[in-house]
Amino acid sequence: MAEPEYRPGLADVPVAESAISFIDGKRARLEYRGIAVETLAKESSFEETSWLLLKGELPSQKQLATFDSQLRMHRRLKYKIIDLIKCLPESGHPMDALQAGVAALGMFYPTKDRSDPEKNWEAVIRLIAKLPTIVAAFHRLRRGDEAVPPRDDLGHAANFYYMLTEKEPSPSITKVIDACLIVHAEHTMNASTFSSRVTGSTLANPYTVVNSAIGTLAGPLHGGANEEVLDMLEEIGSSEKAKSWLEDAVLHKKKIMGFGHRVYKVKDPRATVLQELAEHMFTETSKPEIYKLALEIEKIATGILGPKGIYPNVDFYSGIVYQSMGIPRDLFTPIFAIARVAGWTSHWLEQIKNNRIFRPEQIFVGKNDQPYIPLGKRP
Ligand code: CMC
Repeated sequence: MAEPEYRPGLADVPVAESAISFIDGKRARLEYRGIAVETLAKESSFEETSWLLLKGELPSQKQLATFDSQLRMHRRLKYKIIDLIKCLPESGHPMDALQAGVAALGMFYPTKDRSDPEKNWEAVIRLIAKLPTIVAAFHRLRRGDEAVPPRDDLGHAANFYYMLTEKEPSPSITKVIDACLIVHAEHTMNASTFSSRVTGSTLANPYTVVNSAIGTLAGPLHGGANEEVLDMLEEIGSSEKAKSWLEDAVLHKKKIMGFGHRVYKVKDPRATVLQELAEHMFTETSKPEIYKLALEIEKIATGILGPKGIYPNVDFYSGIVYQSMGIPRDLFTPIFAIARVAGWTSHWLEQIKNNRIFRPEQIFVGKNDQPYIPLGKRP
């Protein structure tokens, strides 16, 4: 039999059959269950979009109302989990705090049986409902403030902002956060979603499934890129330096953060939505310098890298949007996780419905039949 072909990064290798989302990387098209992400960002809410991803269809009014109230009911954290978060180092990254909190959820809500749809659904609700509370609690506690308990009268996006700042957001800020959550909620077989499916395929508990995905998302080539984009923009400093900085970066084969994508060979549709949101936000205030610099970088980098199919991805404008709302930089990736948990859990449910444990192959490049040399006789 011929050796199977090795594809680094599993590029173009299908690892699952999935009906959840679809990308056409040449047409800048991203659909959740057949509906364009731009439409959902304008018309839907994160709660409704989560239901769509999880269940496959838009909810009826009654289904949405029930789902929404279940999410509101499960936002609170047990006081022991708050105590645990209090004990974490203030200097730690909130993605690590999120993993600690989610691991604790797995201990407080143990579940062994994956064949019980009701128990699985309960875990999905808890995860979507409680992730924002963990992130906000860690953020408050690390600054020496009290954690702000969730407010049942606010929707998912507004309540998250409220738990972070103790202020109720304006309708326009609520809409921006909600749209950000929608565009980050799902994205076919990306690295963190693959992690969730691999861990899910072992029939591990759903909190562990989500934790493995959170760990994968944290890396700078995946969700962590949104923080690095702002570091990069600050390093460049001004529009005048943009061209020489970029030329030097390309010469030295340095990656431009927030650019490039395995699947999109045109501008990521989510980057377009986020840029529109930024434009919309900056109609009320003047455009911040960092945004003007990002526009300049996009123009110049597209000229240099566009012919290779490298354009802005979702992370290029998201940080600028979050920063302009006063959200600290190290919360950008946790916000990605708060959104993507809807996608991860949708994939988990899809995986366990028709499960086979992931067990790929390797191409062995090591030695065989080596003698064991006793310690005293080794050179
Ligand atoms: N800047 C400069 N060159 C790039 C970039 C970039 N951002 N991205 C890819 N390239 C070049 C790369 O140097 C390589 O060139 P060559 O063929 O001459 O060696 C070629 O394009 C292929 O790159 P690759 O890294 O093999 O492509 P990939 O499909 O494995 O990686 C990627 C995709 C997203 C990891 C990569 O584009 C990248 O590292 N981008 C910067 C980090 C980033 O913005 N990540 C967020 C991704 S979108 C959100 C998410 O998924 O979380």
